[in-house]
Amino acid sequence: MSKKRFIQVGLGGWGGVWVHTFMPRLIHKLGLVEAEAVVDLNPDTFSGAKYHYHIPDGKCYTDARRAFEENPADFAIIVVPPAFHEEMVDLALEYDMDILSEKPIADTMEGCCRIYKKVTAAGKKMAVTMSHRFDQDKQTLEHEIKSGKYGPVNYIVCRFTHNCRKFGSWGDFRHRMKNPLIIEGSVHHFDILRALSGSDAKTVYTVSWNPEWGEFAGDSTALVNIEMLNDVKAFYEGAKANASTMNPWTNEYFRVECCNGTLELDRRWLRVLRSEGSEKPLQTDIKMLEQPVWMNSWLAEQFVNWINGGPAPQNTLQDNIQCAALTFAAVESAETGKPVDVQEYLRKAMEAS
Ligand SMILES: NC(=O)c1ccc[n+]([C@@H]2O[C@H](COP(=O)([O-])OP(=O)(O)OC[C@H]3O[C@@H](n4cnc5c(N)ncnc54)[C@H](O)[C@@H]3O)[C@@H](O)[C@H]2O)c1
Repeated sequence: MSKKRFIQVGLGGWGGVWVHTFMPRLIHKLGLVEAEAVVDLNPDTFSGAKYHYHIPDGKCYTDARRAFEENPADFAIIVVPPAFHEEMVDLALEYDMDILSEKPIADTMEGCCRIYKKVTAAGKKMAVTMSHRFDQDKQTLEHEIKSGKYGPVNYIVCRFTHNCRKFGSWGDFRHRMKNPLIIEGSVHHFDILRALSGSDAKTVYTVSWNPEWGEFAGDSTALVNIEMLNDVKAFYEGAKANASTMNPWTNEYFRVECCNGTLELDRRWLRVLRSEGSEKPLQTDIKMLEQPVWMNSWLAEQFVNWINGGPAPQNTLQDNIQCAALTFAAVESAETGKPVDVQEYLRKAMEAS
């Protein structure tokens, strides 16, 4: 099978991780893909791509259109801030390419719906890298729930709390945007809640704010109630301006209350707790699933298999639009102070876009 050629747009904080960690495995170890060109407004970012992707100076661009025009490729990897995702999706479609994009689909619900319609109409494949849902600890928790050993899920609690209160400590653009916590952070946890509950969302009610010591233009903290279509309930606590970093990225807290067991995941330690009456609970540790790679390395491999004719991965645009709907409905709820019907919100946004 011939190698798939890609153009990566965005080589900043996270784009750099794609360059040195996620793609080298597919390029050099699995021989599935090759880098055709890279793009970033900031040429200081090019050195990593030249080193890890083995591409010459002439294939490093500051202008995305020129890169797409001069380098026929099979797919685009989009790792620029969300406000620029749609512009890059438009370019990729113009040049007849499939798309592997960072989350969220776009920075607004209207943008997400437009991308959904344009990609679907063009008949191209697009997947969204919801890295944390596809991490080892969350996949193990999902696997345990779906084993049926603990019976049906009743409700889920999630905690994601950091001290990133200083400007720039969570990347400059997040300190400048509206709703950084929900759009840049909670989007991952909402997708994990969808996976753990086995359902899309019915309603969401959000209270969000920024404490006076948080150096954020938008809301850095939120408490969110979610009810899923299958009646599972969820409570979410997210905070980026706390005094302590209790449950940061890759170390979040999830407690899944099932009929026959309390599954608790805390900083990658997974256990099940049970007790009779008021007895102290008996706990059993649960071993993590094992496989060669997780997160974006795994998602990139699945995406390439898909465009090579293999099965669709779970993180397609068609699945992820439900994650976008929950995310932006949560923002709408915070802004209006009212619960939002997520499916109705999605229907109206699709109609209006
Ligand atoms: N999946 C995850 O776990 C995860 C983690 C971090 C970031 N992300 C996502 O990755 C994306 C980028 O985030 P980041 O943290 O790398 O941001 P960043 O600000 O560190 O880097 C963004 C880069 O994009 C470049 N850029 C901006 N506009 C451009 C344009 N029009 N053309 C070319 N280059 C442009 C900037 O120069 C910068 O180098 C966002 O969508 C973010 O949500 C995902």
